[in-house]
Amino acid sequence: MNVGLLGFGTVGSHFYLLAQQQPGVKVKAVLSRRPRPEVSCLVTADVARILSDPDIDTVVEAMGGLHPAYEYITAAMEAGKHVITANKQVVCTYYNELLALAEKTGVALRCTAAVGGGIPWLTSLRRAARMDKMVSVEGIVNGTTNFMLSAMVRRGASFADALHEAQLLGYAEADPSADVEGYDARRKLVLSANLAFGVSLMEEDIPCVGITNIQPRDVAVVRDKGLTFKLMAYACREARGISAYVAPVLVQQHTTEANVEDTGNILTLVGEHIGRQSFLGAGAGGWPTASNVLADCLAVAAGERGYYTRDCTPCFVKNELLDGQWFYRFKGEYYFRQCTAEAAFSTYAVHLMEDPEALMAKVR
Ligand SMILES: NC(=O)c1ccc[n+]([C@@H]2O[C@H](COP(=O)([O-])OP(=O)(O)OC[C@H]3O[C@@H](n4cnc5c(N)ncnc54)[C@H](OP(=O)(O)O)[C@@H]3O)[C@@H](O)[C@H]2O)c1
Repeated sequence: MNVGLLGFGTVGSHFYLLAQQQPGVKVKAVLSRRPRPEVSCLVTADVARILSDPDIDTVVEAMGGLHPAYEYITAAMEAGKHVITANKQVVCTYYNELLALAEKTGVALRCTAAVGGGIPWLTSLRRAARMDKMVSVEGIVNGTTNFMLSAMVRRGASFADALHEAQLLGYAEADPSADVEGYDARRKLVLSANLAFGVSLMEEDIPCVGITNIQPRDVAVVRDKGLTFKLMAYACREARGISAYVAPVLVQQHTTEANVEDTGNILTLVGEHIGRQSFLGAGAGGWPTASNVLADCLAVAAGERGYYTRDCTPCFVKNELLDGQWFYRFKGEYYFRQCTAEAAFSTYAVHLMEDPEALMAKVR
């Protein structure tokens, strides 16, 4: 397999090093806007040199962002090259377009590293969904917010201090909104739910609340009740479609989820016959993430294609049947409420109009 590698940051550079030790996977060219003296193959800032090279059969996209990643991925597929990406944003946003193009051109499109970093979650989910009917998928899927919540719970850090620390350590970006507002987790939920349930969900359809309104006093209040905050993504099959949300969740302190610390991730599937299976590990980082990219390369070299199918049903998210207990802080007062997820998010939207610092969390 001859690879054209687009992007030489955290994931790209680690993939390059891993591929050097892997017989059968050769990086032939690297797209980079700056010189890379450590790279022994062609380094170019001109993507056309990679896309028009007939010897390159596979493109690994490790640039991130929507554009020009989407244009480069589609051009690579049009040129008959397999595409492997770690970019959840581009796959989630252009899900239907990319699947249709992969089918039309007959190339592989894989994105295992896009959810769970180094955890082989999507491939395991695919395997499970082929043999069993999936009931639900859920997890702690954003390492940055999990690191921040760990700092807030363990050391009593404020949201601002926890964010500052995450930025200093390189876990959070200068603009942290995709992480702290829950959008990154929501994209990973879309990719997981689409695969689990054979649907095509719209990102914007899924109600999403991040961790920005969690304050030290909230952490102390729930600790006294034996609970701890985690940002979780959840989707399940319901009679009338798919229920899904991203929100802070209060988990019992003794549970596995409560003890997933720092940048760790945990992803859980529930199948009708196989029951509950959880996958725990490094949700980010150069080596783990690049390992999943390399695993995709090896799968493609072995003749496998993508694991998503195009005959998925476009599906609206319906949360009106998903009943549960929710926790709120509104104008300084805490209260619990038993209601559907739809009602829970509507209530919170109303609260926010009067109290922009209001809090909501699901009780597990
Ligand atoms: N880091 C992780 O742990 C992790 C985990 C799972 C998934 N991912 C996903 O992997 C992808 C890459 O993440 P990363 O952490 O490796 O990002 P990163 O460290 O910021 O690296 C991105 C690289 O792409 C290059 N790049 C961006 N736009 C480019 C363009 N138009 N032309 C040429 N090069 C361009 C950047 O070049 P410059 O250096 O010139 O800016 C940089 O070298 C993202 O989609 C991310 O969501 C990352």
